[in-house]
Amino acid sequence: MLNGKNVLLAVTGSIAAYKSALIVREFIKKGANVKVVMTNAACDFITPLTLSTLSKNPVFKDFVKDSEKGVWNNHVELGLWADLMIVAPATANSIAKLVSGHADSFLLATYLSARCPVFVAPAMDLDMFKHESTQENLSILTERKVSIIQPEYGELASGLEGEGRLAEPEQIVKAVRDYLLNIATLKDKRILITAGPTHESIDPVRFIGNHSSGKMGFALAKVAAERGASVQLIAGPVVLDTPSGVDRINVTSAKEMFEAVKETFANIDVVIMAAAVADYRVKSPALEKIKKNSSEMELLLEKNEDILLYLGNNKKHQLLIGFALETENEIKNAEKKLISKKLDAIVLNSLKNKGAGFATDTNQISILQKDNKMISFELKHKNDVATDVLDVIEKLL
Ligand SMILES: Cc1cc2nc3c(=O)[nH]c(=O)nc-3n(C[C@H](O)[C@H](O)[C@H](O)COP(=O)(O)O)c2cc1C
Repeated sequence: MLNGKNVLLAVTGSIAAYKSALIVREFIKKGANVKVVMTNAACDFITPLTLSTLSKNPVFKDFVKDSEKGVWNNHVELGLWADLMIVAPATANSIAKLVSGHADSFLLATYLSARCPVFVAPAMDLDMFKHESTQENLSILTERKVSIIQPEYGELASGLEGEGRLAEPEQIVKAVRDYLLNIATLKDKRILITAGPTHESIDPVRFIGNHSSGKMGFALAKVAAERGASVQLIAGPVVLDTPSGVDRINVTSAKEMFEAVKETFANIDVVIMAAAVADYRVKSPALEKIKKNSSEMELLLEKNEDILLYLGNNKKHQLLIGFALETENEIKNAEKKLISKKLDAIVLNSLKNKGAGFATDTNQISILQKDNKMISFELKHKNDVATDVLDVIEKLL
C-alpha cells in the first residue's frame, strides 16, 4: 500500500521527536518516498542532518533557503507533492496551530497547502493531553477528516505515568496502512486510462496535435491508484509526472495508442478513454523536412482507427467510459457517442464553460449513463473531478 507513495513527515518539538528517525525508516522500508519538514523547536530534539540522511532528501524548516540569493522553499509545492502527511510527534502547540490555521512556520504553511490525507500523532505529558483545549482541538481536527493516531499509556518523559506517549513507529505506519486499505475501494480492479493528445507526423520535425494537456487523465490515474486499483496509463506526449503506483506506457500517435490499448484491453475491468485522439493522420508523412517552396500546400489525411468504437465492439466484461469535449450541441453529441460506441457512460466537458476542458487545472463535467441518467457537477479541480468520475464508476461496477 505504501510502495511509491510520497510521505511527508512533519516533526514538531516534543521529546519524542527522536522517534521520528524510526518513523522515517519504517516508511522507507515499506517503499515510500519520504520528505521531512520540522519546526524550529523540533531541531532542539533531533538534527535535520539525521532525518535528511535517513530520508535521503533535504529537510525543510524555513521559508527562506538563501536570503542573499532570494531562494525560498516552496510550501505549496511540498504540500501538493505529498500523498500523505503525518505530523508525528505532534505537540500541543502545533495541534492548536493546525486548528487555528496559523501559518507562521514552514510546517504549518505546508499543512494548509496539502490536499492529501493528514494524520496527527500527539505526544505530550498526560495533563497536557487530557486538557480541554487539547481534546477540543483534536475533536475539531477529527471533524475536519484529519486522522488522529492516539498516544499510548505508559511512562512519560516527566516521570509521570499516563496517556500521552507517542504511538510506536510501527503503530503509526500501521495506522496509515489501515487507512489506505480502508479507502482501497477499487482493490483487485484493473483500470486502463488513456490521457493526453496524440501527435500525427507531417514530416520529421512537424506534427498535427491538439491542446490536450493530459491533466484530466493523469488525475484519474492518481485517484484510481489511491483507491487501490492497478492502473495502466497510456499517455500521449505530455510533460507530467507519473502518479505513484501507476504503470505508464508512452505513445506518440493515435496508431501507437491503438496498438497499446489493444494489447492491454483483454485483462482490464474498466477502460477510461480520456485521451484526445486525432481523428485523422497524414497519409504519407514526408521522410525529410518539407521546405517552404510554394505559397500553399495541401496535406492529404486519412482516418485513424476509432479506438472507442473498437473497444465498444470488442468489450466483454469491461466497463467502458468515454470522454466528449464539445463546442456545440453538447448533450446531443455526447448521447450519440454513448450509443454509437456502446459506452457505459460518457463524461462530457464543454469548451464553452470557463475553466473547463484543455490545459486548465479545473474542469466542469456532466456524466451521462447508458440508462439516460445524467449527473452534472460544478467547476472543480481536476483531482476532485476524478473523484466524482470514479465514484460513478464504482457504482456502475
Ligand atoms: C525538554 C522539553 C520537552 C518537551 N516535550 C514536549 C512534548 O512532548 N509535547 C509537547 O506538546 N510539548 C513539549 N515541549 C514543549 C514544546 O517544545 C513547545 O511547546 C514548543 O513551543 C513547541 O513548538 P512546535 O509545536 O512549533 O514544535 C517540550 C519542551 C521541552 C523543553
